[in-house]
Amino acid sequence: MAEEIITKKRMISGIKPTGKLTLGNYIGAVNQFISYQDEYEMYVFIADLHALTLPIEAKELRQNTKDLISIYLACGLDPNKVVLFKQSDVHEHAELGYIMTFNSNMGELSRMTQYKDKSSKISDRQSIPTGIFIYPGLMAADILLYDADYVPVGVDQKQHVELTRDLAIRFNSRYSETFKVPEPVVAKRGSKVYSLSDPTKKMSKSESDKGTIYLLEDVNIARKKIMSAVTDLGHEVKFDPENKPGISNLLTIMSTLSSTPIEELEKRFEGSGYGDFKKAVADVVVDFMTNLQAKVKEIQASGVIDKVLEEGALKASYVARKKLSKVYRKVGLR
Ligand code: TYM
Repeated sequence: MAEEIITKKRMISGIKPTGKLTLGNYIGAVNQFISYQDEYEMYVFIADLHALTLPIEAKELRQNTKDLISIYLACGLDPNKVVLFKQSDVHEHAELGYIMTFNSNMGELSRMTQYKDKSSKISDRQSIPTGIFIYPGLMAADILLYDADYVPVGVDQKQHVELTRDLAIRFNSRYSETFKVPEPVVAKRGSKVYSLSDPTKKMSKSESDKGTIYLLEDVNIARKKIMSAVTDLGHEVKFDPENKPGISNLLTIMSTLSSTPIEELEKRFEGSGYGDFKKAVADVVVDFMTNLQAKVKEIQASGVIDKVLEEGALKASYVARKKLSKVYRKVGLR
Protein backbone atom coordinates (compact mmCIF):
# COMPACT_ATOMS: atom_id res chain seq x y z
CA MET A 1 0.00 0.00 0.00
CA ALA A 2 1.38 3.37 -0.93
CA GLU A 3 2.36 5.38 2.08
CA GLU A 4 0.35 8.51 2.56
CA ILE A 5 2.44 11.64 3.00
CA ILE A 6 0.80 14.09 5.33
CA THR A 7 2.26 17.55 5.30
CA LYS A 8 1.60 19.57 8.38
CA LYS A 9 0.41 23.15 8.16
CA ARG A 10 2.99 25.65 9.30
CA MET A 11 2.75 28.09 12.21
CA ILE A 12 5.04 30.87 13.32
CA SER A 13 5.08 33.24 16.25
CA GLY A 14 7.45 35.19 18.45
CA ILE A 15 7.74 37.26 21.58
CA LYS A 16 9.90 40.32 21.99
CA PRO A 17 12.36 40.33 24.88
CA THR A 18 11.54 43.80 26.16
CA GLY A 19 11.02 43.75 29.89
CA LYS A 20 10.13 40.60 31.76
CA LEU A 21 7.71 38.02 30.44
CA THR A 22 4.24 38.20 31.97
CA LEU A 23 1.47 35.79 32.75
CA GLY A 24 -0.36 37.46 29.83
CA ASN A 25 2.40 36.38 27.43
CA TYR A 26 2.20 32.85 28.79
CA ILE A 27 -1.57 32.51 28.58
CA GLY A 28 -2.06 34.40 25.30
CA ALA A 29 0.97 33.04 23.46
CA VAL A 30 3.34 30.39 24.92
CA ASN A 31 0.52 28.17 26.15
CA GLN A 32 -0.96 28.21 22.65
CA PHE A 33 2.39 27.35 21.04
CA ILE A 34 2.70 24.30 23.27
CA SER A 35 -0.76 23.07 22.45
CA TYR A 36 0.00 23.25 18.72
CA GLN A 37 3.51 21.78 18.62
CA ASP A 38 2.41 18.25 17.74
CA GLU A 39 -0.18 19.14 15.17
CA TYR A 40 1.70 21.83 13.25
CA GLU A 41 5.15 22.45 11.92
CA MET A 42 6.08 25.24 14.30
CA TYR A 43 8.61 28.03 14.23
CA VAL A 44 8.90 30.02 17.45
CA PHE A 45 11.42 32.79 17.82
CA ILE A 46 12.75 35.48 20.09
CA ALA A 47 11.92 38.78 18.41
CA ASP A 48 15.07 40.51 19.62
CA LEU A 49 15.24 43.01 16.74
CA HIS A 50 11.77 44.16 17.79
CA ALA A 51 13.11 44.79 21.29
CA LEU A 52 15.15 47.66 19.84
CA THR A 53 12.04 49.69 18.94
CA LEU A 54 12.36 51.43 22.30
CA PRO A 55 15.65 52.18 24.07
CA ILE A 56 16.96 49.19 26.06
CA GLU A 57 20.31 48.53 27.76
CA ALA A 58 22.41 45.84 26.00
CA LYS A 59 22.85 43.98 29.28
CA GLU A 60 19.13 43.92 29.92
CA LEU A 61 18.35 42.74 26.39
CA ARG A 62 20.87 39.90 26.74
CA GLN A 63 19.37 38.80 30.06
CA ASN A 64 15.78 39.02 28.76
CA THR A 65 16.75 36.96 25.71
CA LYS A 66 18.30 34.25 27.88
CA ASP A 67 15.25 34.25 30.15
CA LEU A 68 12.85 34.05 27.22
CA ILE A 69 14.49 31.03 25.57
CA SER A 70 14.68 29.36 29.00
CA ILE A 71 10.98 30.03 29.54
CA TYR A 72 10.11 28.59 26.11
CA LEU A 73 11.98 25.40 27.02
CA ALA A 74 10.78 25.26 30.64
CA CYS A 75 7.15 25.62 29.56
CA GLY A 76 7.51 22.58 27.37
CA LEU A 77 8.39 23.72 23.84
CA ASP A 78 10.38 20.79 22.51
CA PRO A 79 13.31 21.71 20.22
CA ASN A 80 12.90 18.34 18.51
CA LYS A 81 9.45 19.37 17.33
CA VAL A 82 9.68 23.15 17.12
CA VAL A 83 12.28 25.30 15.39
CA LEU A 84 13.34 27.63 18.20
CA PHE A 85 15.56 30.52 17.18
CA LYS A 86 16.62 34.10 17.70
CA GLN A 87 15.45 36.54 15.05
CA SER A 88 18.76 38.40 14.80
CA ASP A 89 20.55 35.09 14.03
CA VAL A 90 18.64 34.95 10.73
CA HIS A 91 19.58 38.14 8.91
CA GLU A 92 16.88 37.58 6.27
CA HIS A 93 14.32 38.99 8.74
CA ALA A 94 15.95 42.42 8.68
CA GLU A 95 16.39 42.32 4.90
CA LEU A 96 12.83 41.32 4.09
CA GLY A 97 11.63 43.72 6.81
CA TYR A 98 13.21 46.54 4.84
CA ILE A 99 11.37 45.52 1.69
CA MET A 100 8.01 45.02 3.42
CA THR A 101 8.30 48.41 5.12
CA PHE A 102 8.84 49.98 1.71
CA ASN A 103 5.71 48.27 0.47
CA SER A 104 3.58 49.70 3.29
CA ASN A 105 2.17 53.18 3.52
CA MET A 106 1.88 55.87 6.19
CA GLY A 107 -1.91 55.52 6.40
CA GLU A 108 -1.98 51.83 7.25
CA LEU A 109 0.90 52.09 9.72
CA SER A 110 -0.77 55.07 11.45
CA ARG A 111 -3.92 53.01 11.96
CA MET A 112 -2.13 50.38 14.04
CA THR A 113 -3.60 50.47 17.55
CA GLN A 114 -0.28 49.55 19.17
CA TYR A 115 1.37 52.52 17.50
CA LYS A 116 -1.49 54.83 18.47
CA ASP A 117 -1.39 53.63 22.09
CA LYS A 118 2.36 53.85 22.48
CA SER A 119 2.77 57.17 20.68
CA SER A 120 -0.11 58.79 22.58
CA LYS A 121 1.86 58.32 25.79
CA ILE A 122 4.68 60.51 24.42
CA SER A 123 3.75 64.17 24.71
CA ASP A 124 6.38 65.50 22.29
CA ARG A 125 5.33 64.23 18.81
CA GLN A 126 8.80 64.96 17.44
CA SER A 127 10.39 62.42 19.74
CA ILE A 128 8.14 59.44 18.96
CA PRO A 129 10.64 56.69 18.05
CA THR A 130 10.41 55.73 14.37
CA GLY A 131 10.73 52.08 15.36
CA ILE A 132 7.29 51.88 16.96
CA PHE A 133 5.84 53.21 13.71
CA ILE A 134 7.58 50.92 11.24
CA TYR A 135 7.96 47.66 13.14
CA PRO A 136 4.85 46.03 11.59
CA GLY A 137 6.89 45.80 8.35
CA LEU A 138 9.48 43.71 10.17
CA MET A 139 6.76 41.63 11.79
CA ALA A 140 5.26 40.95 8.34
CA ALA A 141 8.68 39.76 7.18
CA ASP A 142 9.00 37.46 10.22
CA ILE A 143 5.85 35.69 9.11
CA LEU A 144 6.10 35.81 5.32
CA LEU A 145 9.65 34.43 5.17
CA TYR A 146 8.31 31.07 6.33
CA ASP A 147 5.14 30.72 4.25
CA ALA A 148 3.24 30.33 7.51
CA ASP A 149 -0.39 29.23 7.33
CA TYR A 150 -1.21 30.39 10.84
CA VAL A 151 0.09 32.87 13.39
CA PRO A 152 -0.98 32.25 17.01
CA VAL A 153 -1.09 35.57 18.89
CA GLY A 154 -2.95 37.42 21.62
CA VAL A 155 -5.67 39.85 20.61
CA ASP A 156 -3.35 42.88 20.69
CA GLN A 157 -1.22 41.50 17.82
CA LYS A 158 -4.07 40.40 15.57
CA GLN A 159 -4.18 43.69 13.71
CA HIS A 160 -0.50 43.31 12.77
CA VAL A 161 -1.18 39.88 11.30
CA GLU A 162 -4.05 41.39 9.31
CA LEU A 163 -1.67 44.04 7.99
CA THR A 164 0.74 41.23 7.10
CA ARG A 165 -2.03 39.67 5.03
CA ASP A 166 -2.62 42.97 3.21
CA LEU A 167 1.09 43.40 2.51
CA ALA A 168 1.37 39.82 1.23
CA ILE A 169 -1.62 40.24 -1.09
CA ARG A 170 -0.26 43.57 -2.36
CA PHE A 171 3.19 42.10 -3.02
CA ASN A 172 1.73 39.04 -4.75
CA SER A 173 -0.37 41.14 -7.07
CA ARG A 174 2.45 43.58 -7.83
CA TYR A 175 5.22 41.03 -8.39
CA SER A 176 3.30 37.74 -8.96
CA GLU A 177 2.59 34.97 -6.44
CA THR A 178 5.38 34.98 -3.83
CA PHE A 179 3.96 34.77 -0.31
CA LYS A 180 1.41 32.57 1.41
CA VAL A 181 -1.28 34.74 2.99
CA PRO A 182 -1.33 33.84 6.72
CA GLU A 183 -4.20 33.77 9.18
CA PRO A 184 -4.10 34.92 12.81
CA VAL A 185 -5.10 32.36 15.44
CA VAL A 186 -6.46 33.83 18.65
CA ALA A 187 -7.37 31.59 21.60
CA LYS A 188 -11.06 31.53 22.51
CA ARG A 189 -10.23 32.39 26.11
CA GLY A 190 -7.13 34.08 27.46
CA SER A 191 -6.25 35.98 24.30
CA LYS A 192 -6.32 39.10 26.44
CA VAL A 193 -5.32 38.79 30.07
CA TYR A 194 -6.14 41.96 31.96
CA SER A 195 -4.24 43.97 34.54
CA LEU A 196 -4.95 42.89 38.12
CA SER A 197 -5.12 46.51 39.25
CA ASP A 198 -7.31 47.68 36.37
CA PRO A 199 -9.16 44.79 34.71
CA THR A 200 -10.27 46.99 31.83
CA LYS A 201 -6.63 47.26 30.63
CA LYS A 202 -4.28 44.65 29.18
CA MET A 203 -1.69 43.07 31.47
CA SER A 204 1.52 44.32 29.93
CA LYS A 205 5.31 44.04 30.12
CA SER A 206 5.77 47.77 30.13
CA GLU A 207 3.44 48.33 33.03
CA SER A 208 5.61 47.86 36.11
CA ASP A 209 2.89 47.93 38.73
CA LYS A 210 0.93 45.58 40.86
CA GLY A 211 -1.34 44.74 37.95
CA THR A 212 1.24 42.55 36.20
CA ILE A 213 2.54 39.13 37.19
CA TYR A 214 6.05 38.50 35.89
CA LEU A 215 6.77 34.82 35.37
CA LEU A 216 10.18 34.96 37.03
CA GLU A 217 9.36 37.29 39.91
CA ASP A 218 9.32 36.34 43.59
CA VAL A 219 6.28 34.11 44.08
CA ASN A 220 5.40 35.86 47.35
CA ILE A 221 5.07 39.14 45.49
CA ALA A 222 2.91 37.42 42.89
CA ARG A 223 0.68 36.04 45.64
CA LYS A 224 0.23 39.51 47.12
CA LYS A 225 -0.66 40.93 43.71
CA ILE A 226 -3.40 38.32 43.25
CA MET A 227 -4.74 38.80 46.76
CA SER A 228 -5.02 42.54 46.18
CA ALA A 229 -6.43 42.22 42.62
CA VAL A 230 -9.32 44.58 41.96
CA THR A 231 -12.59 42.66 42.02
CA ASP A 232 -16.15 43.65 41.27
CA LEU A 233 -19.36 44.47 43.07
CA GLY A 234 -21.29 41.53 44.48
CA HIS A 235 -19.82 38.31 45.80
CA GLU A 236 -20.60 35.66 43.22
CA VAL A 237 -17.76 33.94 41.35
CA LYS A 238 -19.22 34.12 37.83
CA PHE A 239 -17.66 34.50 34.39
CA ASP A 240 -19.17 37.74 33.12
CA PRO A 241 -16.48 39.91 31.45
CA GLU A 242 -18.81 42.86 31.03
CA ASN A 243 -20.11 43.17 34.58
CA LYS A 244 -17.41 41.29 36.44
CA PRO A 245 -14.14 41.97 34.58
CA GLY A 246 -11.91 41.37 37.62
CA ILE A 247 -13.40 38.02 38.60
CA SER A 248 -13.63 36.90 34.96
CA ASN A 249 -9.93 37.68 34.50
CA LEU A 250 -9.00 35.62 37.57
CA LEU A 251 -11.22 32.78 36.35
CA THR A 252 -9.45 32.82 32.98
CA ILE A 253 -6.05 32.70 34.68
CA MET A 254 -7.03 29.86 37.01
CA SER A 255 -8.77 27.92 34.28
CA THR A 256 -5.74 28.03 31.95
CA LEU A 257 -3.15 27.22 34.57
CA SER A 258 -5.13 24.37 36.10
CA SER A 259 -6.63 23.10 32.80
CA THR A 260 -10.07 23.24 34.37
CA PRO A 261 -13.10 24.54 32.46
CA ILE A 262 -14.43 27.85 33.77
CA GLU A 263 -17.89 26.34 34.31
CA GLU A 264 -16.39 23.79 36.68
CA LEU A 265 -14.62 26.54 38.64
CA GLU A 266 -17.85 28.53 38.89
CA LYS A 267 -19.50 25.49 40.41
CA ARG A 268 -16.60 24.84 42.77
CA PHE A 269 -16.79 28.38 44.18
CA GLU A 270 -20.55 28.62 44.39
CA GLY A 271 -21.40 30.14 47.75
CA SER A 272 -17.81 31.01 48.69
CA GLY A 273 -16.68 34.62 48.80
CA TYR A 274 -14.08 36.47 46.71
CA GLY A 275 -11.44 36.02 49.43
CA ASP A 276 -11.44 32.23 49.26
CA PHE A 277 -11.54 32.31 45.48
CA LYS A 278 -8.55 34.68 45.28
CA LYS A 279 -6.59 32.48 47.64
CA ALA A 280 -7.24 29.49 45.40
CA VAL A 281 -6.17 31.46 42.31
CA ALA A 282 -3.01 32.58 44.11
CA ASP A 283 -2.19 28.96 45.05
CA VAL A 284 -2.51 27.85 41.43
CA VAL A 285 -0.39 30.75 40.13
CA VAL A 286 2.29 30.25 42.79
CA ASP A 287 2.46 26.51 42.07
CA PHE A 288 2.80 27.15 38.37
CA MET A 289 5.52 29.78 38.88
CA THR A 290 7.49 27.74 41.42
CA ASN A 291 7.62 24.83 39.02
CA LEU A 292 8.52 27.02 36.06
CA GLN A 293 11.24 28.90 37.94
CA ALA A 294 12.88 25.65 39.06
CA LYS A 295 12.94 24.41 35.46
CA VAL A 296 14.32 27.73 34.20
CA LYS A 297 17.16 27.50 36.73
CA GLU A 298 17.93 23.96 35.63
CA ILE A 299 17.93 24.91 31.95
CA GLN A 300 20.19 27.91 32.51
CA ALA A 301 22.64 25.76 34.46
CA SER A 302 22.63 22.96 31.88
CA GLY A 303 24.21 24.94 29.05
CA VAL A 304 21.72 23.70 26.41
CA ILE A 305 20.57 27.16 25.34
CA ASP A 306 23.38 27.94 22.87
CA LYS A 307 23.01 24.58 21.15
CA VAL A 308 19.23 24.91 20.80
CA LEU A 309 19.56 28.40 19.32
CA GLU A 310 22.36 27.40 16.99
CA GLU A 311 20.43 24.47 15.57
CA GLY A 312 17.25 26.54 15.34
CA ALA A 313 19.03 29.31 13.45
CA LEU A 314 20.40 26.81 10.94
CA LYS A 315 16.97 25.34 10.20
CA ALA A 316 15.25 28.73 10.05
CA SER A 317 17.97 30.22 7.83
CA TYR A 318 17.55 27.43 5.32
CA VAL A 319 13.89 28.34 4.77
CA ALA A 320 14.36 32.11 5.05
CA ARG A 321 17.26 32.21 2.60
CA LYS A 322 15.24 30.57 -0.17
CA LYS A 323 12.30 32.92 0.29
CA LEU A 324 14.44 36.05 0.40
CA SER A 325 16.32 35.11 -2.72
CA LYS A 326 12.99 34.63 -4.52
CA VAL A 327 11.90 38.09 -3.34
CA TYR A 328 15.18 39.65 -4.47
CA ARG A 329 14.66 38.17 -7.95
CA LYS A 330 11.06 39.40 -8.12
CA VAL A 331 11.87 42.99 -7.18
CA GLY A 332 14.92 43.17 -9.44
CA LEU A 333 17.73 43.06 -6.88
CA ARG A 334 19.04 39.85 -8.51
P1 TYM B 1 4.71 40.86 22.43
O1 TYM B 1 6.12 40.50 22.71
O2 TYM B 1 4.22 42.17 22.94
O3 TYM B 1 3.76 39.74 23.00
C1 TYM B 1 4.01 38.37 22.73
C2 TYM B 1 2.72 37.59 22.64
O4 TYM B 1 2.01 37.69 23.88
C3 TYM B 1 0.67 38.13 23.64
N1 TYM B 1 0.25 38.94 24.79
C4 TYM B 1 -0.86 38.71 25.48
N2 TYM B 1 -1.83 37.78 25.35
C5 TYM B 1 -2.85 37.80 26.23
N3 TYM B 1 -2.96 38.73 27.23
C6 TYM B 1 -2.01 39.68 27.40
N4 TYM B 1 -2.13 40.56 28.40
C7 TYM B 1 -0.91 39.70 26.50
N5 TYM B 1 0.18 40.50 26.38
C8 TYM B 1 0.87 40.02 25.32
C9 TYM B 1 0.78 38.97 22.36
O5 TYM B 1 -0.46 39.11 21.72
C10 TYM B 1 1.77 38.16 21.56
O6 TYM B 1 1.14 37.08 20.91
N6 TYM B 1 5.31 42.20 17.68
C11 TYM B 1 5.06 41.09 18.56
C12 TYM B 1 6.12 40.02 18.49
C13 TYM B 1 6.33 39.52 17.11
C14 TYM B 1 5.55 38.53 16.43
C15 TYM B 1 6.14 38.41 15.14
C16 TYM B 1 4.45 37.77 16.80
C17 TYM B 1 7.30 39.92 16.27
N7 TYM B 1 7.21 39.28 15.09
C18 TYM B 1 5.63 37.51 14.20
C19 TYM B 1 3.94 36.87 15.85
C20 TYM B 1 4.52 36.74 14.56
C21 TYM B 1 4.99 41.61 19.98
O7 TYM B 1 5.43 42.70 20.26
O8 TYM B 1 4.43 40.75 20.88
